[in-house]
Amino acid sequence: MCGIFGSILKNGNVAPVIHAGLKRLEYRGYDSVGEATVHDGQLHIKKDAGKIDDVHAVLNLDDMPGRVGIGHTRWATHGAPYQVNAHPHTDCVEEIAVVHNGIIENFADLKLELENSGHVFKSKTDTEVIAHLIEGKLKEGLPLIDAVRAAANRLDGSYALAVISIKEPDKIVCARNESPLTIGITDNAIYFASDIPAFLPLTNKAVIIENGELVVLRQEGYEIRRLADWTVVPRQPEMIDWDPEMAEKQGYPHFMLKEISEQPATLRNTLRLQDQYLELMTEFLDRAGEVFLVAAGTSYHACLAASYMFSKLAFLATHPIISSEFVEQHGKSVNIDSTILFVSQSGETADTLSAVDHAHLRAATILGLTNVIGSTLTRVSRVYVCQQSGPEIGVAATKTFTSQLSVLAQLALRLAKKRGKVSHVEIEFLESKLKQIPDIAGTILKKHSEKIQLLAKKYCDKQCFFFLGRGISSATASEGKLKLMEISYIPAIAYPAGESKHGPISLIDSGFPVIFVCPKDDTHKTIVSNIMEMKARGASIIVLCEEGDEEIKSLADDFIEIPEGVPEILSPILYVIPLQTLAYYITLERGHDPDMPRNLAKCVTVK
Ligand code: AGP
Repeated sequence: MCGIFGSILKNGNVAPVIHAGLKRLEYRGYDSVGEATVHDGQLHIKKDAGKIDDVHAVLNLDDMPGRVGIGHTRWATHGAPYQVNAHPHTDCVEEIAVVHNGIIENFADLKLELENSGHVFKSKTDTEVIAHLIEGKLKEGLPLIDAVRAAANRLDGSYALAVISIKEPDKIVCARNESPLTIGITDNAIYFASDIPAFLPLTNKAVIIENGELVVLRQEGYEIRRLADWTVVPRQPEMIDWDPEMAEKQGYPHFMLKEISEQPATLRNTLRLQDQYLELMTEFLDRAGEVFLVAAGTSYHACLAASYMFSKLAFLATHPIISSEFVEQHGKSVNIDSTILFVSQSGETADTLSAVDHAHLRAATILGLTNVIGSTLTRVSRVYVCQQSGPEIGVAATKTFTSQLSVLAQLALRLAKKRGKVSHVEIEFLESKLKQIPDIAGTILKKHSEKIQLLAKKYCDKQCFFFLGRGISSATASEGKLKLMEISYIPAIAYPAGESKHGPISLIDSGFPVIFVCPKDDTHKTIVSNIMEMKARGASIIVLCEEGDEEIKSLADDFIEIPEGVPEILSPILYVIPLQTLAYYITLERGHDPDMPRNLAKCVTVK
């Protein structure tokens, strides 16, 4: 998830306007920045790795000639945050410049084809293929607009892109598929941007560009066409009534709710990871003598769920370990035959990195799953996978958790396939279900928000909560507990439901809220008796169950239904979403800020 911005001014240099626009998009990505303007038959480009202010301090991003320009602030997905991978990217003869937000799934095939036809690539990015594809079409004599259309129609994946050319310096050509793109209009300028916040201080007259559309910007206005059949799309601007802070959250009151709502899109992105790294990681896991899954906080809960996935699908026993306990618990037993998958959305958590250091000392194989390319974890890992959730601003991890689960499920499925432990039919079934997960997540978000807000009102004064599940759902329950505790400050306990009678049930009295995570899986029968145990002692029973599960619903005081047919090993990805949302609304009811919970930091860099 990057931020793109650009403009055509009637008068004056556009570079300072682009610089300011990118600053307002910095929450979308901040590991590299760049601008390109066209002036006097030339492209002028400034770009480098680093935060906008740091790069500006060295390169002065305001000092470039020209009224027409494009810019980009980056969140690396392909190619580490180095200067060469920063946008804009150009063609072989520096005639055009391109900025892009999204993931080109078929970039490797296109790159090979283009290299075989003589194109020379400078970067490791997926984006650069767009510049060379357009170059190829321009060489065939197509005008810029048609060349961009032809190139866009070759791309699989998500993109919002913008192109300028020294041969047609009066226009900017943009195209969109999935990644957001908006146009802003004033009498003296026209802007394009990933999000409305970027141009809101300049104008609140906006045009939303839809999927599969191309738009040509000129000083005098814009023209939208459908990429598929080239028909013109007449769309009038709409007036936006957001204040800048609301804008950065795209109209959501908090980053946490925005990030919870982004999960359908981020889960789609997580299904577009580079095959070669997933395959390499599967290879290492398959060869391993023993496998540890090590992480802190929410990432540890992803490891806990993964241990069920690897065991059930690939018959691989793995040890989920909390980072800060790794050395104490396994420090002496880790050795050259050990393979350790470290999971950290930030890639910078001190407890996790010190466990990495120890594993390194013991010559173990270090694998990494993170959300931040260029983070320390990516630099110390033998192989790493970047989960593509985009920057997460809210301290409470939400979209990064579900993306971690999706990656871990993909790894478990690949390992199962490799080991032939599960039938092809079942693997194909699970792979098709994994592809449906983003849409089902969207359904859950749409369907249950109001009900969850009512539940939050009903239970927000409770002094303590239990979160219970069996099997893989005990990991879901643990994450639900952490979300509620860390932002609402309500004490909560989670444990595998079978443990209740060994102690915790003594806390139960009338009205004590117990949340059960109970998908229809092998644990369904036993969890019914666990619910009965709690009910018998007067607990208020709140269940997350499968749609139409009348047996469980009949035992509950309140229930949230998840669409049916979600396979057990994928259930945490979906069943956690109502728990994230409930924690958010209970926190609001208690008057706390969900984005900045007390005593916590987004990235814990102290041990
Ligand atoms: C989760 O909401 C918290 N922010 C925290 O527990 C977090 O998961 C933990 O600090 C690990 O962070 P990481 O994934 O960046 O390593």
